[in-house]
Amino acid sequence: MVTIRRARPQDAPAMAQVHVAAWRSAYAGILPDAYLEALSATREAASYERAILARRGGHAGFVAVADAQEDAAQGIIGFATGGLARRPGLAEGEVETLYLLDDFRDRGIGRRLMRASASHLASLGVQSAFAWVLADNPARWFYERLGARLMARERVAIGGRALTQLAYGWAPIHTLLTATASTRLPR
Ligand SMILES: CC(C)(COP(=O)(O)OP(=O)(O)OC[C@H]1O[C@@H](n2cnc3c(N)ncnc32)[C@H](O)[C@@H]1OP(=O)(O)O)[C@@H](O)C(=O)NCCC(=O)NCCS
Repeated sequence: MVTIRRARPQDAPAMAQVHVAAWRSAYAGILPDAYLEALSATREAASYERAILARRGGHAGFVAVADAQEDAAQGIIGFATGGLARRPGLAEGEVETLYLLDDFRDRGIGRRLMRASASHLASLGVQSAFAWVLADNPARWFYERLGARLMARERVAIGGRALTQLAYGWAPIHTLLTATASTRLPR
């Protein structure tokens, strides 16, 4: 079984492992190989730990934890983080990260993590939310499936490569709460 709970500072190393594995899988062929190879779980862990401790702008993380019954892995297998939008103009709240290990995709866990994030953002009083996604990342269809509207597109440079990123948003935020409310039986 996979449960969702609020992230604690001591979760940061496991979150960093998921971050690096998900980036290397999801962004292969999108970001340069050398950039993906150079990702450091140690560096990411320090960054996640700082963010969880600081709680700046209502920032919070939610982790998906697989219990011992799961054969593929045990422990933290995915997470989402977010808080007040890091920059003004698009929406009030932002889902900053959302990553799952490959073996745990397409089982409704991404939707559950989005629900936890949306509930948290709503509890901060925000009326709308958004997430950035690279245009080449099929995850954009996940956001569309959850009812998101394309709000903006912009050019960014990551690892020296020029890419397009898209902002997908929900306004009012209740549209995200509704889209993530469906109870799909855990697999
Ligand atoms: C994006 C991600 C978090 C989605 O999580 P997930 O657990 O696989 O998605 P879910 O099973 O909750 O899917 C929810 C719905 O979205 C749909 N969906 C999910 N990914 C999709 C995709 N790539 N294309 C089309 N639909 C998709 C599912 O079919 C499901 O639809 P349903 O309502 O008919 O059941 C996960 O695939 C992932 O971690 N990807 C790699 C990292 C990444 O790209 N993160 C996003 C960075 S912006």
